[in-house]
Amino acid sequence: MNGNVSRLRSHDSRYLCNMAEDLQITAGTKTEQYQALVPQIKALMEGESDLIANLANMVAALKEQFGWLWTGFYLVKNDELVLGPFQGPVACTRIKKGRGVCGSSWQQAKTLVVPDVEKFPGHIACSSASRSEIVIPVIRNSEVVAVLDVDSIELDHFDTIDQQYLEHLVALPSFP
Ligand code: SME
Repeated sequence: MNGNVSRLRSHDSRYLCNMAEDLQITAGTKTEQYQALVPQIKALMEGESDLIANLANMVAALKEQFGWLWTGFYLVKNDELVLGPFQGPVACTRIKKGRGVCGSSWQQAKTLVVPDVEKFPGHIACSSASRSEIVIPVIRNSEVVAVLDVDSIELDHFDTIDQQYLEHLVALPSFP
């Protein structure tokens, strides 16, 4: 790399690979945690157009802050949900429309908060440790293009605060 390119890149946040070290983990209420995390996730995505890179950093930052059991995206591909960037135990790779919490959220194009997964008919148990779940559809041009799925080991873990901030976050990345 010549000196000019090196100098140019030193001013481009995408080439500074110290962002994870810089993630500030915040104590406090759930709202305070989201309020501190959202701008950091925005900064991680700034200037980066690659979808997988942005989704990967978003789920990594959420996992670091909240420590949930499973946090990840399923992407709509050929009329199925296909596993995308995630943090947590290995998971099922494909989900059909209307199946499980993810497929239901996709079909209904709305966020589903499930306080007890055992009471959700058709819930897909990717991990036996999961007790509650929230799934947020990612909507672009009136179409669901992906879902964000978060699982907790605690019953009744997710509420309207999670819904509000996670819906805000999934609206940020550009989908091709
Ligand atoms: N529980 C989800 C399946 C995905 S895993 O939890 C990662 C569902 O019922 O759709």
